[in-house]
Amino acid sequence: MSDKEKELAGSKVSDFIEDGMILGLGTGSTFYYAIKKIGEMVKNGLKIEAVSTSSSTDTLAQSLNIPLLSIDDVETIDLTIDGADEVDPNFNGIKGGGGALLFEKVVAKSSKKNLWVVNSAKMVDKLGAFPLPIEVVPYALGNVFKKLEARGYNPRIRMRDGEKYLTDSGNNIIDASLGAIEDAYKLEVELNMIPGVVENGLFLDVVDIVIVGKGNGVEVIKKSS
Ligand code: A5P
Repeated sequence: MSDKEKELAGSKVSDFIEDGMILGLGTGSTFYYAIKKIGEMVKNGLKIEAVSTSSSTDTLAQSLNIPLLSIDDVETIDLTIDGADEVDPNFNGIKGGGGALLFEKVVAKSSKKNLWVVNSAKMVDKLGAFPLPIEVVPYALGNVFKKLEARGYNPRIRMRDGEKYLTDSGNNIIDASLGAIEDAYKLEVELNMIPGVVENGLFLDVVDIVIVGKGNGVEVIKKSS
């Protein structure tokens, strides 16, 4: 059911893409359906260029003949399409379950508009049930871990195949099980003030449009300005 919802949400992105746009390409299993759709549109003649947020998306984009630009080559991105791990009623979210939060935030914050594609389970009343990803330079991993532990943030070092997970930048990730986050703005600043923390997965005041796959359909929710 939930993969069907991801596919429905991802495929709907065609409604928001126009010829000539520079797109930001997100990462993840829901975004996968969006990039497949974009690839299909490119095959049918759509002219766009895109900036990718991860090595896995680079590979997908190349396989679909989507022309890629470096983030350094663009002033602004017209529209970034991405997934999310949680979205609350204020259009704030948690991202980084797939480990690409740093590049995703760089691209999102360089975009005129951000659109997220999610399945219905991602819509929550309050952020925090999903462990918050925090990207940390390897040198400071143990040090940051202890600081988070002392603050009661239930940190866990992300592992993959028995090794510490490495991001595309060669950093590690700590997932913090926080429970309901009361003040996400305060927490974002607090986390980024810890030396060694590169970025965290709170995406606040970033997204403009959310496409939610729901059962056999989709709901498009737009942030009122
Ligand atoms: C990648 O780091 C993430 O931010 C993803 O966009 C997010 O985790 C959603 O991924 P799924 O669509 O795979 O759940």
